[in-house]
Amino acid sequence: MKGYQPQTLNEVIIQQQSAFPYAKGELSRLLSHLGVAAKIVHKKVNKAGLVDILGEAGEINVQGEDQKKLDVFADETFINAFRTSGMVAGVASEEQDNVVVFTDELSMNANYIICMDPLDGSSNIDVNVSIGTIFSIYRRISPPGTAVTEADFMQEGNKQVAAGYVVYGSSTMMVYTTGLGTTGFTLDPSIGEFCLSNMFMETPKEGTIYSINEGNYIKFPQGVKDYIKYCQIEDKATKRPYSSRYIGSLVADFHRNLLKGGIFIYPKTSSSPNGKLRLLYECNPMAFLAEQAGGRATDGYGNRIMDIKPTELHQRVSFFSGSSSMVDKAEEFMKKYEE
Ligand code: AHG
Ligand code: MN
Ligand code: MN
Repeated sequence: MKGYQPQTLNEVIIQQQSAFPYAKGELSRLLSHLGVAAKIVHKKVNKAGLVDILGEAGEINVQGEDQKKLDVFADETFINAFRTSGMVAGVASEEQDNVVVFTDELSMNANYIICMDPLDGSSNIDVNVSIGTIFSIYRRISPPGTAVTEADFMQEGNKQVAAGYVVYGSSTMMVYTTGLGTTGFTLDPSIGEFCLSNMFMETPKEGTIYSINEGNYIKFPQGVKDYIKYCQIEDKATKRPYSSRYIGSLVADFHRNLLKGGIFIYPKTSSSPNGKLRLLYECNPMAFLAEQAGGRATDGYGNRIMDIKPTELHQRVSFFSGSSSMVDKAEEFMKKYEE
């Protein structure tokens, strides 16, 4: 390709780093360690059909769900990358009941902590459908030199220093933000680098896609039921009926809607009164990315996701995210039934 001079993830992070003089290059090094771990997981994901990696690992995680082998592999890969980076003091992972505290001297003196969903959309592994990794980076609260505790992780999403996801799809992409817009990188397998592909991503204000597991319809709050009906009614001016798209991998559903414009909803239901998705390592990072791309992320009841004060590591929350006008509209319907 004539003139093909990609800007790599590392190059862009280093440029952006100049906006954070206090970080002294730590954040860029941390994100590049993360990128290496993502490439290792990418390689494994792409071989999932070839090697005996499919199927259950025989363990049940803290959410009571079966763990697939790839979940375990991704969890170990990212935790090891963070441990050896020397820039992370501890990790909260979907696959770990408790916070993983790093106690070597370098890590104890590190400034950052990470919340992550190492493998999101694991029900799609066996069927060759896109899956992902979600991460969120905070500065620790406890003084460096000590071991971090769970209290370090009970920070509101508005304190995130960086957040992002990797989508292992038809291409593997990393999308991240440090609060300077949302930026996308596509892995070029021929050179093994994440290359800048989407600078300053902006999600359309008005979208035409709604993404929700409609199989749970009967269990939805009335406001959600009414909003779904609204999406299905014909109206030329607002380009309705909207298209329904739902993969069942948050990363993939969110990524499509970010690019095309749409709303993703995982509401509370009669059987899951707090919703399903996890605040710390699913909703907060996605909310940061959505807002940085001009979208919104709330609990559907007027509360900004990133302003919710966490009380539990694996806390669940109802999640409405995507094109700002669509989230506004859905909230209007929810409001009608507020007690
Ligand atoms: P995980 O694979 O990390 O457990 O996450 C699955 C999540 C999320 O990716 C997706 O949006 C949602 O579960 C799908 O849930 P339903 O099958 O209930 O629709
Ligand atoms: Mn998940
Ligand atoms: Mn997961």
